Amino acid sequence: MPGGAVVLGTADTGRIEAPVTMKAYFLCVFAAFGGIFFGYDTGWMGGILGMPYFINMYTGKPFPENPDAAHLPADFALPAWEKSLMTSILSAGTFFGALIAGDIADIVGRRPTIIFGCIIFSVGCILEIAPKHALAAFVIGRLVAGVGVGFISAVIILYMSEIAPKKVRGALVSGYQFCITIGILLANCVVYATQNRLDTGSYRIPIGVQFLWALILGIGLLFLPESPRFYANKGKIDLATAALARVRDQPADSDYVQDELAEILANLEYERAHIPQTGYVESWLVCFRGSLFDGSSNLRRTIVGTGLQCAQQFTGINFIFYFGTSFFQTLGTISNPFFISLITTLVNVLSTPASFYMVEKFGRRRILIVGGSCMVLFQFLVAIIGTATPGAQTPGGAPSAVKAEIAFICLNIAAFASSWGPAAWVVVGELFPLPIRSRGVGMSTASNWFWNCIIGVITPYLVSSDEADLGPKVFFIWGSTAIFSTLFAYFLVSETKGLSLEQVDQMLSETTPRTSANWKPTKTWAAREGKVEVEAMEEGEKAV
Ligand code: BGC
Repeated sequence: MPGGAVVLGTADTGRIEAPVTMKAYFLCVFAAFGGIFFGYDTGWMGGILGMPYFINMYTGKPFPENPDAAHLPADFALPAWEKSLMTSILSAGTFFGALIAGDIADIVGRRPTIIFGCIIFSVGCILEIAPKHALAAFVIGRLVAGVGVGFISAVIILYMSEIAPKKVRGALVSGYQFCITIGILLANCVVYATQNRLDTGSYRIPIGVQFLWALILGIGLLFLPESPRFYANKGKIDLATAALARVRDQPADSDYVQDELAEILANLEYERAHIPQTGYVESWLVCFRGSLFDGSSNLRRTIVGTGLQCAQQFTGINFIFYFGTSFFQTLGTISNPFFISLITTLVNVLSTPASFYMVEKFGRRRILIVGGSCMVLFQFLVAIIGTATPGAQTPGGAPSAVKAEIAFICLNIAAFASSWGPAAWVVVGELFPLPIRSRGVGMSTASNWFWNCIIGVITPYLVSSDEADLGPKVFFIWGSTAIFSTLFAYFLVSETKGLSLEQVDQMLSETTPRTSANWKPTKTWAAREGKVEVEAMEEGEKAV
C-alpha cells in the first residue's frame, strides 16, 4: 500500500473511522489551547489603555491626585486617535496573518505554521514591551503580534478539524472557543492586578505573560503529529498513514487507518478532478468558482464561511466585550469597571461548556438558529426596557429596569457562548474540501477579524455622548443585525454533525441547508471511486 500504490478502502459507511480514544481527545484538547492567544490578546488592550502609568507615559500629562485606574478624571486619557490606532492595528495584522497562513499551511504543514505563528507573535510582544515610550515600536509590535495571532487562529481551526474524530469534532473545536473565553478572562484579571502600578510593570507584565502561551503552544506542538490530510494532499501516503495512526491511536496497518485513509484519498481524487489547479493564481481563483445556487460549489462555500464569520460578529457580542464597561457604567448601578467586565467574561466562560454537548446533540445548524433567535429577543428586550424607562440611566432612576437590562445582557452573552461563539468556528473547519480548505478557513478567519475591526471602529460613534449617543437603543441595532445572522444560518448553513469531512462534501452536493439534517451517508468515497475490494463493494451494496 504505502509508497504511491492504490489504497483500498471499505464500502461500509459505518467503518470509516476508528473508535474515539482518550489520546485522540488529548491531542485536540491541547491544540485548543491556541484559543488562549486569541482571547488574551483581544482582552488586555482595553485595560492597558486606561492605566494611569501608560497614559502618563504617552501623553506626558501629570498624574491626577488619586491615580486609580477605576476613577481617573475624564481629561486624563489617551487621545481617541491613539486608542483607536493601538486597538485596531491588531485586527489589521490578524486579517493579513489569517490570509497568509492558509497558503503557508498548505506548503509547510499545519503544525509548523502554528509554531511559526508563535514565533512571530513573540517577536511582536518583544517590540511591544522592550522599548519604552515608543509609539511606533508599540504599534508595529501590535501589528506583528496580530499577524502571529492570525496564523494561530486560522490554522488551529484547520488542524483541529482535520485531526478530530468526527463524533466529537464539534465538541472539541468548541473547546477552542472555551479557551478564547478563558483567555479574555485571564487578560482581564492580569490587567486588574497590575493596573495601578506606577512603573512599566503595569503594562509590561500583562503583555509579557503572553510569552508563556507562545512557549506552551509552540513547544507542545512539536510533540503532536501533523494533520494526515495535509500529507494526503501532498501525496505523501506513508507519512499520512503514520500521522493517521497516531491521531487515531491505532496501528498503521489496522483496517480503521487504511479505510479512513482510502476515504480521504478517494475524496481528494474526486475533488481534484473537479477543481483542477494550475498555478498559484489559479489556486486562489478556484475558491470563487462554481454557481452561487449550488450548495457544494467552492464559491458558495467561500460565501458561507466568510459570511458566517461576518454573521458571528453581527450578533453584536463584541459591543458588550469592548464597550460593555462604559455601557454598564451609564446604567449607574455598578461603578467598578473591573467588576463589570468580570461579570460579562465569567458568564461567557461558564456558558461555553454547554455547547460541548449541544453542538453534537442538536447540531450546528439548529444551535445557530435557536441561539441567534434568543440573542435577537434578549437584545430587543434590553433596548425596549432601556428606551421605555429613560430615567433608569440615572442613578436611582428605576433600579428594577436596570436589573432587568443587566439580566438580559447576561442571558444574551450566555446565548452567544453556547451557540454562535463555538458553532461558527466548528462549521468553518468542516465546510471546505481539502484542496481549498486551508485557504477557505484562512479567508473565513480573516473575515471574522475584518468585521470585528469594523464593529470596533464604528461603535464608539454610536454610543459616545458627543456623537449619536444611542444608549440602550444601540441594542435595536444589534438585535436587527442578529436577525440577519439567524436568517443567514437558516438559509445557508447545512448540518455537518457526526459526518467525516469527506462525507460533508457528499452531503453538500446532495442536499439543501434545510434538508441537510436528515441526510445519511449511503456510499463511501472509496466505493464511489471504485477503490474497494470487489467483495467488500458487493457487501456494502447489500447493506445499502
Ligand atoms: C469571537 C470573538 C469574541 C469571542 C467572545 C469569538 O468566537 O470570534 O470576536 O470576542 O468569541 O467569546
